[in-house]
Amino acid sequence: MRVAIASDHGGMKIREEIKSLLEELNIEFEDFGCECETSVDYPDYAQPVATKVAEGEYDRGILICGTGIGMSIAANKVKGIRCALVHDMFSAKATREHNDSNVLAMGERVIGPGLAREIAKIWLTTEFEGGRHENRLNKLHQLEG
Ligand code: RB5
Repeated sequence: MRVAIASDHGGMKIREEIKSLLEELNIEFEDFGCECETSVDYPDYAQPVATKVAEGEYDRGILICGTGIGMSIAANKVKGIRCALVHDMFSAKATREHNDSNVLAMGERVIGPGLAREIAKIWLTTEFEGGRHENRLNKLHQLEG
């Protein structure tokens, strides 16, 4: 698995935490910034990650901002992206099993690094269930046109 990760200035601590998790899990990743603590615009960091996941260059993406909301809205504008905004472990498992989410968004002003690490670990290691959920994904593809 190859993972693309990025944050805005509001998500840099959790980004570092998740990078250390990816190293621990031996998962290859690339960090798409941001590199500074001054204010940046989250769509500029969501866009490369979402596009590269949609194009198949990376299998999954992880995006962090203050709330996770801006990143998730931006990522879901890209065709082929199913970005889940997750702040609990139940949803981390469910969105992989049911939605086959390919991008995870979290908010650093909402949860701490410890919970973010557990959420990401579950999300990275849970498989899509397929079956009845496959038809629902097909309907999402139809919505994209
Ligand atoms: C930045 O101030 C903040 O708006 C951003 O990190 C994010 O929470 C947006 O959804």
